[in-house]
Amino acid sequence: MTTSLLSTTYIAAAVLFILSLKGLSHPETARRGNQFGAIGMLIAVLAVAFHAGVIASPTFLGAIALAAVIGAFVASRVAMTSMPQLVAILHSFVGVAAVLVGISNHLAPAVELAGSERTIHDVETYLGIFIGSLTFTGSIIAWGKLQGVIRSKPLMLPGRHLLNIGMVVACVWLGVAYVQGGHEALPELLIMTAISGVIGVHLVMAIGGADMPVVVSMLNSYSGWAASAAGFMLSNDLLIITGALVGSSGAILSYIMCRAMNRSFVSVILGGFGAEEGAAPAGGAAVEGEMVATTAEEVVAKLEAASSVVIIPGYGMAVAQAQHPVKEITEILRSQGKEVRFAIHPVAGRLPGHMNVLLAEANLPYDIVLEMDEINDDFPTTDVVLVIGANDIVNPSALDDPSSPIAGMPVLHAWEAADCIAFKRGKGAGYAGVENPLFFKAKTRMLYGDAKKSVDAILQLLRAQ
Ligand code: TAP
Repeated sequence: MTTSLLSTTYIAAAVLFILSLKGLSHPETARRGNQFGAIGMLIAVLAVAFHAGVIASPTFLGAIALAAVIGAFVASRVAMTSMPQLVAILHSFVGVAAVLVGISNHLAPAVELAGSERTIHDVETYLGIFIGSLTFTGSIIAWGKLQGVIRSKPLMLPGRHLLNIGMVVACVWLGVAYVQGGHEALPELLIMTAISGVIGVHLVMAIGGADMPVVVSMLNSYSGWAASAAGFMLSNDLLIITGALVGSSGAILSYIMCRAMNRSFVSVILGGFGAEEGAAPAGGAAVEGEMVATTAEEVVAKLEAASSVVIIPGYGMAVAQAQHPVKEITEILRSQGKEVRFAIHPVAGRLPGHMNVLLAEANLPYDIVLEMDEINDDFPTTDVVLVIGANDIVNPSALDDPSSPIAGMPVLHAWEAADCIAFKRGKGAGYAGVENPLFFKAKTRMLYGDAKKSVDAILQLLRAQ
């Protein structure tokens, strides 16, 4: 393949990756975005294989086929709620790939350089391996915590910040020795790889299991920068562009998630927030009132009398997989001429777009699925709000209790509706481990039980009307 043809295919693949990111920014275009990304990657792999002359190599074809089969098998079986750990383990592959590319590039450089060009190249190699090793070990720990293989409780070693600083300083010192030592400096490179791996383990071990989604998104960003560094090492423009796209989109996503949770990025990285799921509520002012239980029959009576209904899905709806009967309830109510809409909080559930994916899976029309800012002013004119397995995202103390751990987090104003029904199994706290005054308000009723069972019961009653 000629160099100009290779450049053309790289540009085509890069454009497809950009279109992919654009498509993934909205549920309606997400499938197309995914397809653009897959086509872009296919073009990229074929172009590289042709250019390197390995397109007919049995080793190459065998490796690609084996990886494709494993990837398709794992991705088709993974549950939506286990998606973060799949993403985490995939990032570890990018990290280890960057380390291997860097070390092999050191042993057998793709290009022989001298002077300042050589220095820049060595710095790229060193940085790529540093980020790659940290991403590799950090992602494995993140996977272990999300999978429940490693305890999610933060590991708080005494003097842990000093330890981190010490390790980073050692890596910088080794970096200087590496750039000065050139080809002979393999030991410095390997020692730094090991230290950076320890930094990855230590950083992620210090973060509570509940903060892991932000950490996964941050590791996603790191993996992008590691890939970009590998692109510089190999003088591969497409890898540089793709890595930069992944690195910057991961960083933006981490920022958006932190902002929606009213957390600073630094406080997430330093750890210590987020009680374990189902933990007793802690923090914030004491809540007055009592939680009043209701029945499916009473909920149906309220729905029958309502003309506008807003459904707020949360993490519990995802766990219970209640989206399909929720869709059927929506259809019945809409066929009765009622206005039914969904209110989506940016961090509802446990991964970005979690609720959108579930609702799209149940084939709900996109035009009744609204973002928090689009619907928050409509609650005072809403008759019934159904809060299905959500907690923190509808917690009014975020707005009116400065002592609450979630103070300042923007939330959905469910309490402003005429009636509010909360679907929950019991009195368990949400992700932030705090009490929710919404459940104690006079107009709120609690429908206890697994969300799928409760929603199914309501559906049966509505069908029987
Ligand atoms: P949560 O605050 O975690 O509340 C979920 C509620 O669902 C729990 O109180 C639980 O109460 C209930 N529940 C669990 N399983 C259930 C089931 N099978 N049936 C019925 N109810 C069930 O969820 P949320 O309101 O969606 O808020 C998301 C939280 O996660 C936010 O604090 C957010 O900051 C955080 N977070 C989100 C993300 C992203 S990107 N989405 C990333 C990191 C952190 P019971 O135990 O009583 O049933």
